[in-house]
Amino acid sequence: MSELWKTSQWARLNDWDWLNQPMPESLRDVKKRIAETFPVKFFYHMLEFARLDPNARDGAHFVRNEGEFRFVEYDPISAQLIQLFRTPRTIDRIRSSDMLTRLETLKQHRLIVPADKDEPVDCLAVFYAAITLFGIWQVEHEFVPALQRIADLRPKRVIEIGTGWGGSMFSWAQVADPTARLVTIDLPWGPGSLVVPTDYYPRFQQFKHADQTVKCILADSDSDEALKYALEWVDGDSVDFLFIDGDHSYEGVRSDYERYHGLVRPGGLIMFHDVFTPDGGEYPEGLGVAKFWNEIRSGFEHEEFMLDQNIGVPLGIGILNVPE
Ligand SMILES: C[S@@+](CC[C@H](N)C(=O)[O-])C[C@H]1O[C@@H](n2cnc3c(N)ncnc32)[C@H](O)[C@@H]1O
Repeated sequence: MSELWKTSQWARLNDWDWLNQPMPESLRDVKKRIAETFPVKFFYHMLEFARLDPNARDGAHFVRNEGEFRFVEYDPISAQLIQLFRTPRTIDRIRSSDMLTRLETLKQHRLIVPADKDEPVDCLAVFYAAITLFGIWQVEHEFVPALQRIADLRPKRVIEIGTGWGGSMFSWAQVADPTARLVTIDLPWGPGSLVVPTDYYPRFQQFKHADQTVKCILADSDSDEALKYALEWVDGDSVDFLFIDGDHSYEGVRSDYERYHGLVRPGGLIMFHDVFTPDGGEYPEGLGVAKFWNEIRSGFEHEEFMLDQNIGVPLGIGILNVPE
């Protein structure tokens, strides 16, 4: 029997005209770089953003190999093929020479793959895709292993507080269950405290798996309204994974924890960002996450992901395991 082929689970369509979108001044360089590098509309294989360069390995960490980004510019025939191969099928049923040529290109870019091929998650690649396409306020050596924990959990319900540029929500969506419902909450005047306008939100819909849903809630996380919408969006189900990365003051993070932690199911995970305590134990003004983390962690089984200070400045990720 002829070999079956399918669309890669990592195939995505980017359809965003960076040059003609309203973007704030602070993102001018990002916008310019992306607009110069990519066409407005292209297919990409999510895990083709990062390559592990064996010569660039330094102990356990990998250095990004620049210039490996690969994409296929959008055209209707490629779009049709990507849609068609969502159901595995043989190639011999395709007769049109135009289609066969496009199919070869899609195969070269691993957008169409043998149906029996495993496609494991590559958290490093997800991280670099997040940086390249959205921007992320995370440190590689902390975020990549922490993301692996979320990948192992394969959550079906996710709540994130603090969208920023969208890079962390992008990452959760890649490793979550393909049918997951995900919610991200940021302040009403746009994610990232005026960093990105709300017009950017439709772009979030492009990065998810076809059967996932992603909801952006524009509200103060410390409001009944935000909690109500978040609950509605997860269908009243309990949440597998809660990420707290919004208001970084001690009162803010404590309030987020108190309001949302009860939604997380036994066996679920609660992740905090910026839990690193600087030498001397002094918490910088407005950065009370570490103080709260140090108070709460001992009551739980927990893990910390902290960049080695010989490599760079840690921010720190803390994960609480909610008891079964
Ligand atoms: C550090 S950024 C989030 C970064 C993002 N999670 C990432 O990893 O790339 C913090 C975000 O929290 C948002 N934020 C601050 N206070 C908030 C609040 N009370 N409610 C909702 N969002 C808030 C800010 O607007 C900002 O976008």
